[in-house]
Amino acid sequence: MNKEIKYKLLTYGCQMNDYDSEVISSLVESTGAYPVEKPEDADIIIFNTCCVRESADNKVYGRLGQYKILKKENPNLLIVVAGCLAEKDGEKMIKKFPQVDLVVGPRNAYRIVSLIEQAKKKKIVCLNQDDAVFLNPLSRSGNITGYIPVSVGCDCFCTYCIVPYVRGRLKSRPAGEIVAEAERLVKQGFGEIFLLGQNVNSYGFDLPGKPTFAELLEKINGIDGIRRIRFVSPHPKDFHPDLIKAVGKLENVCKSVHLPMQSGSNRILKLMNRKYDREQYLKIIHGLRKEVPEIALSTDIIVGFPGETNEDFEETLDIVRDVQFDLAFMFAYSPRDGTAAAKIPDQVPHDEKMNHLYRLIEMQNDISRAKNEKFVGQVLECLVESLSKKDPTKLTGRTERNRVVNFTGDKSLIGEFVNVKLTSAFTWGWIGEMAEGG
Ligand code: 5AD
Ligand code: SF4
Repeated sequence: MNKEIKYKLLTYGCQMNDYDSEVISSLVESTGAYPVEKPEDADIIIFNTCCVRESADNKVYGRLGQYKILKKENPNLLIVVAGCLAEKDGEKMIKKFPQVDLVVGPRNAYRIVSLIEQAKKKKIVCLNQDDAVFLNPLSRSGNITGYIPVSVGCDCFCTYCIVPYVRGRLKSRPAGEIVAEAERLVKQGFGEIFLLGQNVNSYGFDLPGKPTFAELLEKINGIDGIRRIRFVSPHPKDFHPDLIKAVGKLENVCKSVHLPMQSGSNRILKLMNRKYDREQYLKIIHGLRKEVPEIALSTDIIVGFPGETNEDFEETLDIVRDVQFDLAFMFAYSPRDGTAAAKIPDQVPHDEKMNHLYRLIEMQNDISRAKNEKFVGQVLECLVESLSKKDPTKLTGRTERNRVVNFTGDKSLIGEFVNVKLTSAFTWGWIGEMAEGG
């Protein structure tokens, strides 16, 4: 590659993919290539894809279809499909979309530059889950949130989930490497260190001496000048009392935990192979609230898992009503080929699934709004992230409890911590105004 090469990177999916995209763009840019806004101006288009639900696949397929014409207009255009969908579809991706030149799975993204060179001569499919190379991005796009993976892959095999098949087995990263990267980012002025793992609190089982995730948090908490530490996604089965204590006592760990619940029905949790029941889940929630009464809690819920009855669904509604999550990500179950749940004959009809999903969303939206209303009038510290997507005359900041506030302020404040008075509440967060001395 050389200086004239222009590339466009499109990222789908979770924060791990955002991180992988930082690695990919820093590698591609290290060759002198530079990013462009419009795909039609690019010499290389890279899709960093997700396949967690069918809707994620469809987004990429739709775009790939549209870009066929770009390839016709510019035969030198190189189309790369990276990420989870690349790993899932492999060779099939090229058969279905002959305009694709390179298919590269998540564990091979660090080789992207040499693979692109090879793909200029012939089509390449690179899938190999044995590798687990923890590469820090050579450069990062901003200095607000610094993502650091603590592990890759997952050994859980929840029956609905494709992640273990596309991201491979769990492999933890040595603590020293993680702490060193966190120290580097804090020195560079990153306001927030965000630890990532498909199952972040299973960290360390595979390392010598079996360091725990709570111990890792403690080390990172001790870094000089660190302000905020977040992590996703923990699994309830590994959310032990030492981690509850660590969240409470470590002053730089945000008092905000995302704990995927998936279902409130013990029967469905068993079918999902989640390895906990609703009582154990609630015990963690109560433990966290005892440790930090004001803690913010969020979750993921799947509606319409095969065999889910009205009674099972009512149990999910009950627990949502009881727990009063600040925020929930709610999904209609979508079968993923190769997973155990996709083989269950008793799939829930689409209309019933959607009907349940809308009922759940309505309930949770009311809860989120009511919880946010309680904060109106308070002044909260926010890390300013960007211009608001809803209203570019405003800034968007994030509170420690992981909710957003839009407020008027100068864009030079992006990356800074400011105090914002919350003036009105919505389901998504608040509108506010900068407080005196903010
Ligand atoms: N269908 C619907 N939702 C799913 N998730 C994972 N797999 C599926 C699936 N097959 C949801 C889970 C997970 C989140 C990242 O995506 O709730 O926590
Ligand atoms: Fe999607 Fe899961 Fe891959 Fe993240 S790890 S991009 S959620 S399939």
